Amino acid sequence: MKCTEGTGGCIPGLRRFFKDLCLSIKIYRRNKMKRAYLIRAVVLVSVLIFAAVSCSKDSGGIVIGIAMPTHSDESWLRHTQYVRENCEKLGYTKFDEQWSEDVVSAQISQIENMITKGVKVLIVAAVDGSSLTDVLKKAADQGIKVIAYDRLIMNTPNVDCYITFDNFKVGVAEAAYIEEKLDLKNKSGPFYIELFGGSADDNNSYFFYDGALSILQSYIDSGKLIVKSGQFGIEKTAIQNWDGAVAQARMDNLLVAYYADGTKLDAVLSPYDGLSIGIISSLKNAGYGTAARPLPIVTGQDAEVASIQSIINGEQTQTVWKDFRKPGAVCAQMVDALVKGTTVPINDTSTYNNGVKVVPSYLCDVQSIDITNFMDLFTSGFYNKNEAPWNTIIK
Ligand code: GAL
Repeated sequence: MKCTEGTGGCIPGLRRFFKDLCLSIKIYRRNKMKRAYLIRAVVLVSVLIFAAVSCSKDSGGIVIGIAMPTHSDESWLRHTQYVRENCEKLGYTKFDEQWSEDVVSAQISQIENMITKGVKVLIVAAVDGSSLTDVLKKAADQGIKVIAYDRLIMNTPNVDCYITFDNFKVGVAEAAYIEEKLDLKNKSGPFYIELFGGSADDNNSYFFYDGALSILQSYIDSGKLIVKSGQFGIEKTAIQNWDGAVAQARMDNLLVAYYADGTKLDAVLSPYDGLSIGIISSLKNAGYGTAARPLPIVTGQDAEVASIQSIINGEQTQTVWKDFRKPGAVCAQMVDALVKGTTVPINDTSTYNNGVKVVPSYLCDVQSIDITNFMDLFTSGFYNKNEAPWNTIIK
């Protein structure tokens, strides 16, 4: 073994250990196999190997800030879990994780605190994508890199990249499902539908809506699909904070105002499972869900536990599965690239204009799920059928 200067200098003390090791080896040679020196050498080699492994895996004092919107949507818990697990695999083990429970001002001050504490990278799933311009200016001034997570951060140059799903495709998947199940290509209708939008402060809502209308608009124009309320566009259909109770109340109002004459609703475009569950409650309260008056087609998004259970029970019809493991893995690669100044994984450089710039993005794919293919969630390992609640549901 040749002992050279500079080897193993990557953590404090390692260089000294290495020198000790060299010394031991020299002594060992000189003393022709003196046992004590041999043991010392072995111990030092172990320390050296351990230190070298730690050196490649642990990113020292780097703290990753994670700002999440709310615990009340189960999807964000899973997103966070996968982001952390994947960062840890790359050696980033220190996190400042904050949840603002959909309060915009809380999220801003949480991010301010993270900046003060000196996080290296910020991962932000915004409550209100347009409210972070000032705080992200402060982050940029401190040299902090920013990843927009799932929801685009608007009106700022200070967002480095965006990890999300193909949000337009989510809307397309929901509407294509309605098109297929009502057989809109062949049947003359008319069919009755109501449209729900997501939260108006979430840029995704516009993509979901536009994706859906890219399929539905021609049928609406031809009169094959009728929106009896006449309520179109995010302004009229939005559900603030993606709140299921608000969706339920809006559905109640629509049923009373436009369907009390007995007109049967054939479909509801819902962009998120949490809304779908509220919409279905409203419909059932109004008498839907019987043989004489079956529930309309109700779409959704996120493949949440309650919605998969509802699909199995024959209530919600469809959801869009977003496998959160994928953005978790890509987000961690983005963190690593931003820390090291290497190339960030990107597969879209044209779609997501935040009003100041087109944010380089990585879009993950989505899959439509209904009663015919929900087992994909289990065979893929996304859900485990041996764990609650599935172990009592899935045979
Ligand atoms: C969106 C997200 C959806 C859904 C919704 C409500 O931004 O893309 O998957 O989770 O928020 O939380």
